[in-house]
Amino acid sequence: MKRNYIYIILILLLAAVNQGQAADSVWWKLPELPAPELYGNILIDRESSRAGVKAVSFSHWSHRVNYTCMTCHFELEFNMMLNTTAITEEQNRYGRYCGACHNGKTAFGHTKGNCDKCHNGDISYGKEKFSTLSGLPPAINGNGVDWVKALNDEMIKPENYVLDEIRPIKFEREIVIESPWAGIAPAIFPHDTHGKWLYCSNCHPEIFQIRQYATEDLAMESILDFEFCGVCHGRVAFPPNDNCKRCHPDMKHPGKVGNKMH
Ligand code: HEC
Ligand code: HEC
Ligand code: HEC
Ligand code: HEC
Ligand code: HEC
Ligand code: HEC
Repeated sequence: MKRNYIYIILILLLAAVNQGQAADSVWWKLPELPAPELYGNILIDRESSRAGVKAVSFSHWSHRVNYTCMTCHFELEFNMMLNTTAITEEQNRYGRYCGACHNGKTAFGHTKGNCDKCHNGDISYGKEKFSTLSGLPPAINGNGVDWVKALNDEMIKPENYVLDEIRPIKFEREIVIESPWAGIAPAIFPHDTHGKWLYCSNCHPEIFQIRQYATEDLAMESILDFEFCGVCHGRVAFPPNDNCKRCHPDMKHPGKVGNKMH
């Protein structure tokens, strides 16, 4: 149903382009991108405001240099959705969640004087450290960093765990997801690239079925709505904007000139 609906819109848009209209317009509503030093930054405020302290700033780029996603989203059990994890000050002091590292040894601890390093309500907190990423391979948007290349070339060596050793399961199958639309280059999903950052259960079975073509509604519209690939791509991993060819390598898209496909 949904696919048919998009299909009709595309045909209408194609007609418009053929008439020389809509030439510079974008076909989908692409997510608006924050500045590179703010991409992936969040303010956690599930309890803070209510408890009379400021919201907590957290930056993905500053942490992912040293830790993979699986350290936090598998071992330390943070959810991949803002304000859904029941983090409390007591748990932190007990050594869970942020406190697994913010214990006064690995990183600054939960002591007086440190409270507002986290509880500052400032989404750009720590931005002066962003320049430390300037030696990493560039990307056109997101954090402006090609994290895949940075990891493969060992310019960063993030840990997969902080408590008990986690050995990532090796699974290297590359999935080619053919489009139901004629003439659209398929999307590729490389398990090996993702496996260096993520654990199987970060995606299976909640985001994706563990059988090819079993995931329903896996289409661009839902991805741009932060579902499926868009759970990460658009929030923390490189966004769809201008990056069509990173997922659809054979798409005849000219690169960084717009977000239409040709
Ligand atoms: C390493 C970061 C960090 C530091 C340092 C920190 N906190 Fe928190 N704190 C958090 C996070 C994350 C939450 C959960 C936020 C939410 O859900 O709104 C939280 C929640 C809270 C809450 C509300 C929930 C609850 O458990 O009552 C209070 C109050 C709080 N912290 C007080 C403090 C005080 C006081 C200090 C300093 C002694 C401090 N925090 C230091 C990260 C930190
Ligand atoms: C040092 C810990 C840490 C690391 C490393 C980390 N994250 Fe997170 N992430 C968090 C926390 C904390 C939250 C907020 C959880 C909450 O509020 O319930 C979060 C939230 C998210 C969200 C939701 C953001 C939003 O705007 O709604 C996504 C998506 C995400 N992480 C993806 C990733 C990916 C992909 C990686 C690896 C490249 C990664 N994270 C690495 C701690 C981490
Ligand atoms: C896996 C380890 C780890 C976890 C989990 C972790 N941090 Fe950190 N964090 C670090 C390290 C290491 C640093 C840099 C060292 C330092 O500043 O003491 C850091 C630095 C910070 C800073 C300073 C500014 C910056 O971004 O560099 C803030 C703020 C911060 N963390 C907030 C948090 C909050 C909030 C949480 C939990 C939601 C959290 N961290 C969870 C390891 C961690
Ligand atoms: C993070 C990976 C990713 C990025 C980046 C990406 N796509 Fe997709 N795209 C997919 C997946 C997965 C599908 C669903 C499978 C398929 O149809 O090939 C898809 C489907 C499509 C389709 C088929 C129709 C539909 O909605 O299912 C078109 C057309 C398309 N993408 C165009 C684009 C364009 C244009 C860009 C750049 C603005 C882009 N894609 C960026 C992953 C991506
Ligand atoms: C970042 C997300 C992600 C991670 C992490 C991930 N997968 Fe997948 N996996 C996918 C997607 C997307 C598909 C295709 C689903 C579809 O087409 O409906 C898939 C499909 C599969 C399939 C079916 C393959 C086929 O040919 O039918 C298997 C088996 C699988 N994954 C195993 C794993 C294992 C084992 C791990 C951990 C080592 C893992 N996956 C980690 C996203 C992920
Ligand atoms: C759970 C988070 C998550 C999900 C879901 C996810 N990815 Fe990724 N993906 C990442 C991270 C992290 C990277 C590393 C690059 C970065 O962070 O910018 C990555 C990298 C990639 C790369 C490698 C690009 C390169 O330059 O080599 C491709 C291709 C890709 N993703 C496609 C997809 C597609 C297609 C889907 C959906 C079928 C998907 N991803 C779903 C987190 C995710």
